[in-house]
Order: sequence, then C-alpha cells, then structure tokens
Amino acid sequence: MSVSIGIHDLSFATGEFVLSHAALAEHNGTDLGKYHVGIGQQSMSVPAADEDIVTMGAAAAAPIIARHGKSQIRTVVFATESSIDQAKAAGVYVHSLLGLQSACRVVELKQACYGATAALQFALGLVRRDPTQQVLVVASDVSKYELDSPGEATQGAAAVAMLVGADPALLRIEEPSGLFTADVMDFWRPNYREAALVDGQESITAYLQAVEGAWKDYTEQNGRPLEEFAAFVYHQPFTKMAYKAHRHLLNFCGHDTDADAIGRALGQTTAYNAVIGNSYTASVYLALAALLDQADDLAGRALALLSYGSGSVAEFFSGTVVAGYREQLRTEANRAAITRRTPVDYAGYRALHERAFPSDGGDHYTPAQTTGPFRLAGISGHKRVYEAR
Ligand code: HMG
Repeated sequence: MSVSIGIHDLSFATGEFVLSHAALAEHNGTDLGKYHVGIGQQSMSVPAADEDIVTMGAAAAAPIIARHGKSQIRTVVFATESSIDQAKAAGVYVHSLLGLQSACRVVELKQACYGATAALQFALGLVRRDPTQQVLVVASDVSKYELDSPGEATQGAAAVAMLVGADPALLRIEEPSGLFTADVMDFWRPNYREAALVDGQESITAYLQAVEGAWKDYTEQNGRPLEEFAAFVYHQPFTKMAYKAHRHLLNFCGHDTDADAIGRALGQTTAYNAVIGNSYTASVYLALAALLDQADDLAGRALALLSYGSGSVAEFFSGTVVAGYREQLRTEANRAAITRRTPVDYAGYRALHERAFPSDGGDHYTPAQTTGPFRLAGISGHKRVYEAR
C-alpha cells in the first residue's frame, strides 16, 4: 500500500504595513472600481524597513515548529523570486533563526511564482523515499513593480510555510500532475533590478495558455475529471485572474461558464489574496488557506490547484482534504496576521518602496518598525544581520 503524503500543516505571515487601493487610487487618479472590481484587489501588504523574505519566512514557519517540533525536519526548501543573495540560500538564515538541527539540507528554489510548487513536489519525493522525515517548505516573496506603473496595483508581500510529511493532517497530494513550460517574456527581473519588468497583457495571455497546457497534460496523466473537484485554487497575482483562468479552463473543456458556478468554485479562495496582494510563490497557498479556513466541511473532497510562474512554468495537480483537518487549521492566527497590519499612507509606502541599502560594505542599521517575531537589524560588511525579537 502506498504511503499517503501531503501538507501536514500550513501557516503564513505577511508584512507590517498595508496600503489600501483607495489610497493608491487617490494618488494616481484611477477609478477605484478598476481596483476593487476590475482586478479584484482591496489592499496590499507592504513590508517594514526591517522585514524581508527571511523575516516573513521565519515568522510563517515558527508556529509550525512550535506545534510539531524540529526533530523530523531534515530538509528546508525555500522558494522565492525576491532573492536577497546570489549564492547563499535565504533558508539558511531561517534555519538559524528557528534553531533547526544542523543535520539538515537547506536550498533555495526559483522559477517565478511557480517555485513553491516545485518545492512541494520535491518534498513529496523526499518523504516518499523516507516517510519518517518531514520537509519544511517556505515560500516567501515581496512583489515590487515600478512606482506609477500599471503593475503597482498588483504588489504585495507574504510568506507561507508548509510542513510536508506522511499521513498529513490537511491535504493528501495526489500523484498525477499536469505540467507545462514555455519560454515567454511576460514577466522577468534581471539581476541588476529591484523591480520586475512585465508586459501586463502578455502575462495574462501566457497564464491562460499555461492553464490550458497544464490541464491538457493532467488529463493525459489520467487525472480526475473537472466535475470531481469541490474547488479550484489558482495562483492569484490579483484575484480577478483566478476568474479569468477558470473561465478559460471551462471554455477549453466545453463547459458552461456560468458566473455563479465560477463564483462557487473560486469564491472562498480569494479572501486573503484580495487584501494581501501578490505574494508570488506564496499566492496559491494563501488561496488554499483561505479556502480551508472558510469553506463548509471539505473532508474527503478533492481540490484542484493551479500554480503558475511567469516565464513560464505551470502545474495542475490535486489533493484530497483529510478528515479532521479543521482541528489543525490556524484560522484565527491567519486572520490576525492580516488585521494586525498598520495602515500606511501613500507617502509612507513610497518611502519604503524607494528604500535600498547602500552597497558600500559599511554598517547600515534599519529603523525598528516591525512588531513581528524576527527583524532584519541591518547590513554590515555586506552581511545581513537578523535578530529574533
Ligand atoms: P492595466 O492596464 O492597469 O488594467 O493592467 P486594464 O486596463 O487591463 O484593466 C484591468 C481590468 O479592470 C479590466 O478588466 C478593465 O476592464 C477593468 P478585464 O478586461 O481584464 O476583465 N476596469 C474596470 N472595472 C470596473 N470599474 C472600472 C474599471 N476600469 C477598468 N472603473 C494588469 C492590469 C493586471 C495587467 C497590471 O496591473 C499588471 O501588469 N500587473 C502585473 C502583471 C500581472 O499581475 N499579470 C498576471 C498574470 S502573470 C502572473 O500571474 C505571474 C506573476 O505573479 C509573476 C510571477 O510568476 O512571478 C505576475
């Protein structure tokens, strides 16, 4: 009998501040309807000066370690596309902040927003090889576009941590996976740039093509028929994108694209992303958290997940929700991670957006802004200095 493997626990963290789309619209003269209805976004998380992918990643993972301990974790996979170092994996800092055992492999993975799904799939393989081991997957990103560009409304920041193991308490991941890769320049960030470059309309087209391609392969791998899924969990660069994607998939499969049915299939997946914004690698797993936190009992039901990363790579896969999963949820903590954010005005957000460390190798300290459990104290001799609060 094959071992059941999947997501045993899931926790997330986001930035200290929040910028409302109302404040952005007031600054740039955009009709607020475009943000609230057109792209389906209410607000976006903005990291404090002393937060980054490491502090958010460690904050997301700490409650998992507190609940399950460290002894079975022999691998940490950190997925990000807002990497802070070209050589050292951000996960090594997280490993240190969490005090994980030295008998552990730590690595960073990248392929735009898709990286966390690669991490999850690799984790499943490791656990299959030795079901006594657990893998800590951390997906952490800060989404940054140019100020005053169309992409600005689709920024955000968050980290999701997932414990992957045998006999999971939340979601059993199923074997068939639909895969798709195409070399497209829809969104990219050369090493010398802080903000991503994007061809907005091209990126939407590329996402839809990837949904189609990944689904086609999923059916060829003998995946489930569409009708079996209780809900569809999509990568959400902005929440309206999930609706576009699902309509496209239904059209492709020759199904009705009834707005109410689409709403029922997706509606409960968007609550966190609508107020956090694009968190790149974390986005699809924030959508999963929102669904599990809000839906009526999903025990035994199949969920579809579609992970997309520009450039582009996509994967369509599925999971079955485990009986008793509700006792493991972190609904209250998840909601608190969102409500604890402090609103920032447009000028304050802009100042944070423009902040960058000098590259002179000197000692540069960050103002103490975050109220989270970990902070980036500064940079000294080109070394990032983190501290637990
Ligand atoms: P834009 O040019 O500012 O907006 O770009 P628009 O003119 O396309 O309008 C957006 C929607 O608002 C349209 O609806 C308008 O009709 C509607 P649609 O036709 O799409 O259904 N609208 C209104 N609705 C109500 N009231 C109004 C109103 N006015 C207009 N008054 C865009 C929007 C998302 C392209 C831009 O923000 C952008 O470039 N964002 C970044 C790229 C992105 O998020 N792409 C998504 C797919 S790629 C992806 O998911 C990967 C990614 O996460 C990165 C990674 O993988 O690493 C980005």
